Amino acid sequence: MNKREKIIIGNWKLNGSKQLMQDTLVELGQAINPHHAANNFTLAICSPSIYVGEMIQLAMQISNKLLIGCKNINTDPHTFTGELSAHTAKAMGCKLCLVGHTERRTALNEGNYSYHIKVKQLLAAGVSPALCIGETLEEKLAGKTYTVLHQQITQALAGITLGDNTPLYIVYEPAYAISSSQALTPVFAQAVHADIRRLLSDILGATQTNKIAIIYGGSVNHDNALNLIAQPDVDGLLIGCANSNLQHFRAICNKV
Ligand code: G3P
Repeated sequence: MNKREKIIIGNWKLNGSKQLMQDTLVELGQAINPHHAANNFTLAICSPSIYVGEMIQLAMQISNKLLIGCKNINTDPHTFTGELSAHTAKAMGCKLCLVGHTERRTALNEGNYSYHIKVKQLLAAGVSPALCIGETLEEKLAGKTYTVLHQQITQALAGITLGDNTPLYIVYEPAYAISSSQALTPVFAQAVHADIRRLLSDILGATQTNKIAIIYGGSVNHDNALNLIAQPDVDGLLIGCANSNLQHFRAICNKV
């Protein structure tokens, strides 16, 4: 039986008001139940940075299974105006941070090596990196999925050491599946996640890899969530659009 942590992460992107976010947290608190606790289940929200502090305060009052994170750091810890560093994220109380979301990979041309530094800095600060990887549609159609994932994982994680207290998450989000109504089928997602686990094992060893939650993202909704997370190597879900609808997001949390 799979004993790895299960996690649902909501990415609030740039949507929503502070009030909506507060309401969502309260809803999520109500969705957490003994089943989640007994099954090592965590809910997390990656909030716009401006709201992170307030969301952390609110989440702490609701449940210790409700974590708040941010969505990027800058690798220069002292001088990059307007950015957030790993140690500021830690000081604010962030438990996790997205790294390499496809929207950043595509638009900002960030390279895998920068993700390597971000992962290292976050782990050193005690903030869990949620490293996003995934291929474009062109890469998929050219049969390059495995090659692309291999490169992304190797360049970001080679030489990384994991401790016991700060989990690393891997998020598989094929670019073409994001906000597109083209979620992967559970069978296909499982096949890619199993490949990812083998790749991780080659780099980090089997013992470390068995502790890493591999999360699927891309058009997850209340209809497909349960079948996706039921796959043995799908340990969690990263959700964009569906979490802007409170009822849908809560329905997902209640189903898993
Ligand atoms: O970060 C989550 C996101 O990229 C997936 O978005 O709208 O496809 O659930 P969506």
